[in-house]
Amino acid sequence: MEKLTIITPDDWHLHLRDGDMLGETVPATARCFKRAIVMPNLVPPVTNATMANEYRQRILNALPAGNNFQPLMTLYLTDQTTQQDIIEAKEKNITAAKLYPAGATTNSNAAVSQLESLYPVFETMSEVKMPLLVHGEVTDGDIDVFDREKVFIDRHLSVITQRFPGLLVVFEHITTKDAVEFVISSSDKVGATITPQHLMLNRNDLLVGGIHPHNYCLPVLKRNIHQQALCDAVVSGNAKFFLGTDSAPHEKSRKEADCGCAGCYSAWSAIELYADIFEGLGVLDKLEAFASINGAKFYDLPVNESTITLIKSPWQIPQEITLPNGRPIVPFYAGKTVNWRIEGARS
Ligand code: DOR
Ligand code: ZN
Repeated sequence: MEKLTIITPDDWHLHLRDGDMLGETVPATARCFKRAIVMPNLVPPVTNATMANEYRQRILNALPAGNNFQPLMTLYLTDQTTQQDIIEAKEKNITAAKLYPAGATTNSNAAVSQLESLYPVFETMSEVKMPLLVHGEVTDGDIDVFDREKVFIDRHLSVITQRFPGLLVVFEHITTKDAVEFVISSSDKVGATITPQHLMLNRNDLLVGGIHPHNYCLPVLKRNIHQQALCDAVVSGNAKFFLGTDSAPHEKSRKEADCGCAGCYSAWSAIELYADIFEGLGVLDKLEAFASINGAKFYDLPVNESTITLIKSPWQIPQEITLPNGRPIVPFYAGKTVNWRIEGARS
C-alpha cells in the first residue's frame, strides 16, 4: 500500500509543557491530531479547573492560525484533591484526572502519597463519569524499576478497579505483558494507551552499546517479551488499546546529563511512526481504529469527521530541533528514517 486515508487521529496522552515551549509542541501535535489529552504535570501542577482552563487558553494561543486542534484538559490529583474539585472540574469542561504516585516521574513530587485516601474522590469521579488516568508504577525504593508496573497492578490497580467498577480507568503508557493481560481481563471500563517507543523498542535499545538517553522514558523500556506483548495487543485489534504518544519534551542538555530526564519527544513523527509500526506488524488496516476510533469511544466522545492521508515516502527525522528559546532538543528517533509521511506535510 502506498497511500492510506484515516479519520483524523487523537493523542490520548500528551505533554505540551508551558511558556514558550508551547510554540514548538502545540503546532507539532496539531499538525496531525485533532484532539489530545494534555497532561497536568507542570510546575506548579494543574490541580484545579481554573488552572486547567487558563492552561487551555495558553495552548490555544499557541495554535497556528486556522487550526482547530482541541486540547482536552486534565487535573493533577494530590492528597488534597476534594470531591468538590472533581464536581467543579466536570462542570468546567475538564475531561479527566491524572493519578501520579508521588515521585513516579517528572514533576510528580506533589502527587499522591496515600492512594486509599483518594477513594472518596474516585467515587465522585465514577458518579460524574470522569476518567481516572493512571501512571501505574509503585515508587518504593525496594522495588526494582523493571517490576514497578506489575507491583502497581497487584497492589493498587486491581483493588481500585474492583472497588470502583463504574469508574473509567485508563492505564497509561503500558509497558508489560502483565499490563496487557490485566487490561484484557478487566471490564470494558478499563482501557490503556500505548506509546510508539514501547512498541518499537526494548531495554536493549536503552542500554546496549552505550546508554541511549533519548530512549529513556518512564515507565522504563522493558525486556523484549513485554514489547512483543504490546505488539500482540495492537495486532489483536482489541478496542481497549488506543494511541497515546506520551510525547514528553526535555531540552537536549537535560537529557544528556548525569541525571537525565525521562521522556521521548515524539510529536514530530508520531502518527508516521505508528504507521511504520503497524505496517511492520502487518496490520496497517488496524491503524485507524487504534489511532482514531477506540480512544474516542472509550472517552464517550464523537469520532472526528475529518481525515488525514498518509503516503509512503521516506523522510528523515532531524537530529535536532531548535526550541523557541533558542536551545536544542533531540526528537525521538532522531536521524532515523520514517517511511510514512502526511500528504502535503514538510519534506
Ligand atoms: O517519560 C516520561 N516523561 N514519563 C512520564 O510519565 C512523564 C514524562 C514527562 O513529563 O517528562
Ligand atoms: Zn506522560
